[in-house]
Amino acid sequence: MFLIRKMTEEDVQSVSEIESVCFSDPWSFDTIKEGQKNRFDTWLVLLEGDTVIGFLILRIIAFEGELLRIALRPEYRGRGLAKKLMDQLVEYSIHNSVKSLFLEVRNSNETARNLYSSYGFIETGIRKNYYKNPQEDAVVMCRDLT
Ligand SMILES: CC(C)(COP(=O)(O)OP(=O)(O)OC[C@H]1O[C@@H](n2cnc3c(N)ncnc32)[C@H](O)[C@@H]1OP(=O)(O)O)[C@@H](O)C(=O)NCCC(=O)NCCS
Repeated sequence: MFLIRKMTEEDVQSVSEIESVCFSDPWSFDTIKEGQKNRFDTWLVLLEGDTVIGFLILRIIAFEGELLRIALRPEYRGRGLAKKLMDQLVEYSIHNSVKSLFLEVRNSNETARNLYSSYGFIETGIRKNYYKNPQEDAVVMCRDLT
């Protein structure tokens, strides 16, 4: 049984573990703990039972939403679970009067780029050498919600 809800401080450790197995440049425990207090950001966690298996972060500023992170524990991938989080992203954004969504993604991250394309995100630009560890360009993708 899967459930999506807003993240609480009790989830910080789980999200931190997911970060460390999903990203080559993971955010630290303290960054996550502080970050989830940012009033512009919404952190959603996906649970199977009591276990946090994935999360998503949305930043909303002046009717524009930015998908900052989406990640699933590796053993849960390829089962459509990221789509549950993406569905929530779109629904929550529309409910909060977001007019457009954008994100950056590593050029080499074909899985994520496919996921975003399937949700109507269109590639609109490149940010050269945007990422570190390893250094890589970011592809900017946008979706209009109006
Ligand atoms: C990106 C990520 C969240 C996708 O999670 P997932 O649960 O495996 O995705 P889903 O099973 O819901 O698949 C959704 C779509 O993603 C794409 N996708 C998933 N796995 C893929 C793969 N191995 N190769 C190519 N595309 C893939 C497809 O478009 C798929 O839709 P489809 O099944 O209709 O073809 C997951 O791979 C992940 O956590 N990666 C590490 C963190 C990351 O890179 N996050 C993105 C940048 S912040």
